[in-house]
Amino acid sequence: MKTTVFGKLPDGREVHRYLMANKAGVRVEIIDYGATITSLRVPDRNGKMDDVVLGYDSLEGYVQGTAYFGAIVGRYGNRIAKGKFQLDGKEYQLTVNDGENHLHGGRTGFNKVLWDANPAVSSEPSLEMQYVSREGEEGYPGTVTLKVRYELTDANELRIEYEGATERPTILNPTQHSYFNLSGDFTKTILGHQLMIESDSITPVDQGLIPTGQILNVENTPLDFRVPTAIGARIEDPDPQLAFGKGYDHNWVPRGAAGKVRKAAELFDPASGRLMTVLTDQPGIQFYSGNFLDGSAKGKGGIAYQRRTGLCLEAQAFPDTPNKPQFPSVTLRPGQVYRQTTIYRFSTR
Ligand code: BGC
Repeated sequence: MKTTVFGKLPDGREVHRYLMANKAGVRVEIIDYGATITSLRVPDRNGKMDDVVLGYDSLEGYVQGTAYFGAIVGRYGNRIAKGKFQLDGKEYQLTVNDGENHLHGGRTGFNKVLWDANPAVSSEPSLEMQYVSREGEEGYPGTVTLKVRYELTDANELRIEYEGATERPTILNPTQHSYFNLSGDFTKTILGHQLMIESDSITPVDQGLIPTGQILNVENTPLDFRVPTAIGARIEDPDPQLAFGKGYDHNWVPRGAAGKVRKAAELFDPASGRLMTVLTDQPGIQFYSGNFLDGSAKGKGGIAYQRRTGLCLEAQAFPDTPNKPQFPSVTLRPGQVYRQTTIYRFSTR
């Protein structure tokens, strides 16, 4: 594990960058600001290594940025309607930072704070980060301690394990927000990537991207990714869900029981041959096709990230669960342990 200073926060604290590499030459760089993946270099079918995640060259980009590139998002990944929810009969008001709703933990979410890093070398390179989120932060009850452990295996898997605890009843639903472009060329869109999602249904949303509470079968809709399909093939189809999302920005419900790691999605770039398999124990997976990227974010190498030049596959609970009693719960109580395992596995075809 190599550690370097990545930059300094406006208050003077140093941000570090940790480099992990495996036997196959896969390299991942992570910074302790936002527990953010800043670079992930994986081989194409000819063995050529390229960075496949969007991000910035310097800390300033991450401090100013609004797209959550590579970060751990929390306490709650995705939206909570009007930032309101009730727990044990008490109503809580969270920060409203996305129209009238709460998004990705609020104004200063887990992506905008400095984590404590603890680089450890076990049999495989791994890095553990911890953040203590105080009671009242962004309106959330209970002080929460969240640990995230990144591990790079020799099977070219990036394993992400979460462990969380709280001092008072609260809600917790963190996720990893990397934007992938398997071509390694961030001037190209991801519309030619082929996606397969192991799922028969989504949680449809309204125009504020808040779930209606129903479960919608994907059959005969452009959200059917049961067989590998180019992302661009149907993204402009007239469909109310695509209109609300301005493209894909929905939660799919992977087959198989949550709580057990199972395959949720496969992303393939025919040009480079890179294949990414997403495995998770989470109830949902948000596929976001980078619709809100608009060229205003100047990324690595000075490239302006245009619309749909990266996509996210975020393993998490369903959006707005705290207001949807029929969705799998995100409540965490003292004495309970929040756990998540999500794996991004890289291979070629
Ligand atoms: C959400 C999008 C949101 C984006 C912010 C995604 O996880 O699904 O709606 O705009 O994050 O970068």
